[in-house]
Amino acid sequence: MLSTQAELVAFRSGLGQSIQFVPTMGGLHQGHGELIRRAAEQGPVLVSVFVNPLQFCPGEDFDRYPRSLEADLALADRCGAAALWAPTVQTIYPDGTAADSARQAPAALQQHLCGAGRPGHFNGVVTVVARLLELTKPAGLWLGEKDWQQLVILRQLVADRALPVKVHGVATVREADGLALSSRNQYLSPAQRLQAAALPAALRAADGTTPLDVTRSRLSAAGLEVEYVERVDPQSLQPCSSETALSLLAAAVRCGTTRLIDHTFLMTRQPLVAIDGPAGAGKSTVTRAFAERLGLIYLDTGAMYRAVTWLVQQRGVEPGDAAAVDVLLRALNLQLQSLPGGGQQVLVNGEDVSQAIRSPEVTGSVSVVAAHRCVRQALTAQQKAMGAKGGLVAEGRDIGSAVFPDADLKVFLTATVAERARRRALDLEQRGFPVPECSELEAQIAERDHLDSTREEAPLVQAIDAVELVTDGMSIDAVIDALVEQFRARVPEEAWPTPAG
Ligand code: PAF
Repeated sequence: MLSTQAELVAFRSGLGQSIQFVPTMGGLHQGHGELIRRAAEQGPVLVSVFVNPLQFCPGEDFDRYPRSLEADLALADRCGAAALWAPTVQTIYPDGTAADSARQAPAALQQHLCGAGRPGHFNGVVTVVARLLELTKPAGLWLGEKDWQQLVILRQLVADRALPVKVHGVATVREADGLALSSRNQYLSPAQRLQAAALPAALRAADGTTPLDVTRSRLSAAGLEVEYVERVDPQSLQPCSSETALSLLAAAVRCGTTRLIDHTFLMTRQPLVAIDGPAGAGKSTVTRAFAERLGLIYLDTGAMYRAVTWLVQQRGVEPGDAAAVDVLLRALNLQLQSLPGGGQQVLVNGEDVSQAIRSPEVTGSVSVVAAHRCVRQALTAQQKAMGAKGGLVAEGRDIGSAVFPDADLKVFLTATVAERARRRALDLEQRGFPVPECSELEAQIAERDHLDSTREEAPLVQAIDAVELVTDGMSIDAVIDALVEQFRARVPEEAWPTPAG
């Protein structure tokens, strides 16, 4: 066990930047255990135990909060932690708690849910976590989705300060009757413990159409005193309507004197991810792997435009002749089939064209064919139909802007022209096609960018709410990890678990 700052520094110096950090206030249970186990898959885990006075409001349970260091140490050890650090108030707040209490969590993020009933609580959380990160300098910060509002606020802290730490949220661990594990469950008498199960039950019983008052009544009927029941957007934490694709239904109640919180995520469809970007940015490779990692279907819309282009060339139609292309479209049966391993088979009128659509000839004409209004309308309609129930990652040029404007995550994946030319050369070489000079490839890519972004129909544009990811110098794995991190900031594990394996 580490307690002084010197011990922490000595521990850290042996491990470099790879520390995975699990901050806690002690009273460890299997929810913490799961955080530690998951973090240990990524590197040596440091668990902190510090009952932070700044995050308790006057009259709250600071004095009686569970303090059980020996048991915490044993649990952390069993779950694979490399060390447990229990700093003093003096180490965390050397100038005193009053001097340090000025840090503010964003006002909009604490307007609802627990922020409304616990004024100053999240400012205290932000203050302590900023300080803990300063001292521990971890590569990963592991937090429970159970405290969803805290997780959103701390992700914002990390983003606002551009801290070099990856934030990981882990799904809530529950008892057999659904009660979320919490250090405060220890306060419950046996009778209250039975009564507390009504909290997850009432949330589980709700769907998007259940009025909030019905959930309130169910909780009250079970003898729980309701502090709030709210439905909010999981990102902005502002109230949202029942039509929102993914919303957070959250509640806080008192069971006797014990305050309990819980939530559930309501979904009108499975997640949708839109990945747009210019040609040659490496979208296909990373999107395919990203989709597979998250158990989503991969939809390569570029392949659909290539398939039409292939047909145009097969039939000897002039690519710029919109009327002639339109005639071909009417008899087109275009099918995409997912292959094991995340790939996609492309069938045009029953013929497998998956390889043929990758030829340089198709590459040379696809922008012209894809610019026709009739082509865009036909393929956009097919893509929307394929994504109606969600559950897919679509990759293309106008997915976030035209096809799935309500996608849960929109990414604009790009790279410089020079980097894309280098990747294109490598790709052509691997496929056994002749490789043009680098300058020629760069000119082709710049020309393609120009065509794609200036065409009248659905030009290549970065959706206003898309996350821009410039992949120069990033390995494929690093890009996939960055996509997963963005996805998880929007779609919790609780709503869409990562498939095993
Ligand atoms: O979730 C908690 O236990 C605390 O709020 C945290 C993140 C350890 C900060 O004190």
